[in-house]
This record gives sequence, structure tokens and C-alpha cells, in this order.
Amino acid sequence: MKSAFSPILGLLALDVAAITASPVTVNISSKLQEVDGFGFSQAFVRAAEFQAADSVLQKKALDLLFSKDQGAGFSIIRNWIPSSSNFTILPESPGSPSTTPTYRWDRWDEGQLWFTKQAASYGVEKVYADAWSAPGFMKTSGREALPGYLCGTPGHDCESGDWRQAYANYLVQYVKFYQQEGLDVTHLGFLNEPDFKPDYSQMQISPNASEAISFIPILRQTIDDARLNLSITCCDATGWKKQSGFTDALVAADMQKDLGIITSHTYSSDATYPLNTSLHVWVTEAGVPRSAGGFVPTWYNTGALNEGLTWASKIATAFVDANLNAYLYWEGFEINAQESASHLIDTLGDEVLPSGVFYAFSMWSRFIRPGAHRVATTGSVPNVVTAAFENTDRSVIIVFTNSGSSSQSAQLLVPGRSSAHAWLTDNSHKVARTSVKGSGSSIEVIIPAHSVVTVKFD
Ligand SMILES: *[C@@H]1O[C@H](CO)[C@@H](O)[C@H](O)[C@H]1NC(C)=O
Ligand SMILES: *[C@@H]1O[C@H](CO)[C@@H](O)[C@H](O)[C@H]1NC(C)=O
Ligand SMILES: *[C@@H]1O[C@H](CO)[C@@H](O)[C@H](O)[C@H]1NC(C)=O
Ligand SMILES: *[C@@H]1O[C@H](CO)[C@@H](O)[C@H](O)[C@H]1NC(C)=O
Ligand SMILES: *[C@@H]1O[C@H](CO)[C@@H](O)[C@H](O)[C@H]1NC(C)=O
Repeated sequence: MKSAFSPILGLLALDVAAITASPVTVNISSKLQEVDGFGFSQAFVRAAEFQAADSVLQKKALDLLFSKDQGAGFSIIRNWIPSSSNFTILPESPGSPSTTPTYRWDRWDEGQLWFTKQAASYGVEKVYADAWSAPGFMKTSGREALPGYLCGTPGHDCESGDWRQAYANYLVQYVKFYQQEGLDVTHLGFLNEPDFKPDYSQMQISPNASEAISFIPILRQTIDDARLNLSITCCDATGWKKQSGFTDALVAADMQKDLGIITSHTYSSDATYPLNTSLHVWVTEAGVPRSAGGFVPTWYNTGALNEGLTWASKIATAFVDANLNAYLYWEGFEINAQESASHLIDTLGDEVLPSGVFYAFSMWSRFIRPGAHRVATTGSVPNVVTAAFENTDRSVIIVFTNSGSSSQSAQLLVPGRSSAHAWLTDNSHKVARTSVKGSGSSIEVIIPAHSVVTVKFD
């Protein structure tokens, strides 16, 4: 039965699509934004959990996350710089900003030192270290987990003095501890969701970003004096709209010369339009609120926020409509944490269990490598978002995201390239090889309903 029917279904899909689609032509000489990579975090002691996991399970999860042939090939990690007294490198106030502080280095960093070494062993070169808060004694609230501002920033005077330089020194010292361990932190952030007031580590800035504007030049100078090669990020706002406001303020204050990357999360709004900056822009955190569902391996069912195809569409929109340069999910690997869908891999007994969201990322991150450029395409396929890239090895990648309920056929032309391979993810395929018909100027791929197809031209 099955073998008798499937060729007929395939033919029907082809006929329907041929009427509506126009051939997709890739223009390799039109260089759009650069891709810095894809990534995730193991912050909040998740790196320690990963480090302590059963060694077989641990290896499987690492391969899935970082391997370029067997896994997602993630290329960026985001560590947090702990500010709680248990884990910070500066648990005690030196008494005043000008007194030499006594740092402590536990050579563990909540498992993040081990995690960073693992990532590096797979070739990860971008390590983003981000502070959620300054140590409590440097803040107007006196506590790292109470809403407050950095003392010494405009309008935030403290009896204990101006701690801006001390905070910059502290951040640079954290990077130096990693350097001592043979690991290069490449990106440094001093805020996390500064437009939000939770009851854990955090620090505020005003909507006009005046606190960040008064701190960034001090941090830049401190990094340069230490002869570190570090890109400064700002501001990891809760969502795109908030970060758009911060970005306009930073640009107006001429902060682009000191900053490296504009960073945003997507909890309060998604990345759907370009920000007004000449800097690269990263989504550095994204996930699923617990109220929207737990961890599921589902690719597509109802289009819920915890399903894979939902995230495939978000990623496509972010790269095509918002000119994004990198996309990071919240956490990577967690053990028995299925009440939340904000991590990519969980466990099922002795096995690793990837989520649908993991496969959405894989369809991009395994194939589009750091240093790639997005390139323009003409033509269109109904209900399908098309995104094309050229890697530094000259391979060309086209990602088709079909969120519609009918199968489509795409005719593809990449001038100068003739042989292509394709991979499919849908409800019954996970980054599985799928067929490409024809060669040269008449290449054709089927994009099933509710699927992503990634095509690679060598
Ligand atoms: C391809 O892109 C380049 C650079 O943007 C442009 O000059 C050229 O006209 C484009 N070619 C076609 C066929 O659209
Ligand atoms: C920090 O240490 C204290 C005392 O040892 C402990 O009670 C608390 O649970 C620790 N906090 C965290 C976040 O581990
Ligand atoms: C920035 O916003 C804060 C808080 O609303 C305000 O007090 C301050 O005057 C503003 N600074 C500038 C330079 O506009
Ligand atoms: C600084 O680091 C970047 C990668 O993060 C690298 O491309 C660049 O060559 C480095 N610059 C120097 C002067 O080492
Ligand atoms: C960027 O600037 C243009 C021109 O000033 C403006 O129309 C647009 O709304 C701005 N976009 C954002 C996201 O602020």
C-alpha cells in the first residue's frame, strides 16, 4: 500500500506547486549581513549539572550540541558572570572603590570553566561572558538580587562612592581568570534584562540608557589598558522593542565606537525588523515561558510556542526581516527538567532527548557556519520563507521554512553551482537526507507541509 501510493502523492504535490511558485535564484554577489553563529547558555548552575552528568549521557549531549556532523554545530556559548556571594569572584566589598579588592577564583565557576573547555574542544571560538548584576555593594540597592543601579552613573550617587571603574576592573578580572586557564572570552556584557525587575541577580538602566552610556567608555578603556581583545555588548533587554529604544540612545550618544554587538532577548517582543545600528545584532536569549508548555520533542502539532516549527519560523524571520547576525537560545542541556521548554536537550532514562526546537536550530546552525554571509534571492514559494547564505568555504546554503499546510516544490538556481544535497526536518524526519532532482539550472526540491528543507550547494 505505502509504496504504491507515495509516488502518486509526490506527483500531485509537484503539479500543484508548479502552478504557483516562481524559481528561486540565488545572487551570490549580493552580500547581506554576516552570520556570527548560533548558541546557548548553561548559566544558573546548569553547567555544573552538565559537568556532573553520567559520562555517556554527557558525551551524547555534547556531540548533539557542538558536533558539526552529528549535531547542531553550535558556535557561541553565553556564560554568566555570577554576582551572588556564593559564586562571585568578589564576595566582599573592599570598603571603598579605590581600595584594592581581593578577588577569589575557584577554578570552577559553577561548572562553566569545564563547559567552556568542552565547547572549545569542538572548535567553538566565541565565548560571551555576561554579568546579570554588579556585586551588590556597587549598587544603589546594596544587593545583587534587588533592583538597583550602578553607583556613580548619572542620578545614582551612593555614600560609598562611584563604583564604575571598580565594576569595569571586576569584569576584566573575570576575563583574566579565564585567560589564565587558557580560554579566551571574546564578548563581554555588563547587563541582563535591565528593563526588568526580578528577585534574582539583575541591574537596572533607564529607557534612555544613560547609565550604560556613562559606563561603556570606562569599560572600553579598562579592556584596552589590559590589552584584551574583547567586544563589548549591550544591553540584553527583555525584547526587541526595548532593545530598539536602548540602541537608538546608544547610537545617538556615539557608543558604537566602543561597543561590539547589540544584544537582545525576545521574551517581550520578537526580532522582526532591523535595528538602526551599524553594529552586528545578536539575539542572546530566547525561550518558552513555563505557562506556554513544557519540554516536548514535537516538531509540529498545533503551532504552540514549545514546538520546533514555531522556532524555525522565528529564526527565519530574524535573519530575513531583522538582519540578525547570531541567534542564541536560553539553555542547552538539562536533566529531568521537562516542566520547562527553555532548553534544547533533556533526558529520557539513560538517553538524551532533543526537543523539536533543537532540530529547528540544527537546520540552520549545522550548515550556516560562522563567517557566512546572507545573500539575496529572487523568486518565491507560497507560504515558504527562503533564506540563502554563502559560507567562507564557498558552499551555498538555502533554508526553506514551510509553515503552510501544503507541500511545495521549489526550483532552484545558483549560478555557477550545479550539484546539491538536501536535508529535511518535519514530523517524521530529523535533519534527514532528502532527494534533490535534476542538476545545473533545473534543480528541484520538495518542501513538505510544516517542514524545513536545507539545501547545500558545494
Ligand atoms: C546581484 O547582486 C549584485 C550586488 O548587489 C547586483 O549588482 C546585481 O545586479 C545582482 N544580480 C542580479 C541578477 O540581480
Ligand atoms: C549560597 O550559600 C548559602 C550558604 O552556604 C546556601 O544556603 C545557599 O543555598 C547558597 N545559594 C546558592 C544559590 O547556591
Ligand atoms: C534619562 O532618563 C532618566 C530617567 O528617566 C532621567 O532622570 C535623565 O534625566 C535622563 N537623562 C538624559 C540625559 O536625558
Ligand atoms: C580579536 O578577536 C577577533 C575574534 O573575536 C579576531 O577576529 C581578531 O583578529 C582579533 N584581533 C586581534 C588584534 O587579535
Ligand atoms: C530607523 O530609522 C528610520 C529612519 O529614521 C526610521 O524610519 C525607523 O523607524 C527606525 N527603525 C527603528 C527600529 O527604530
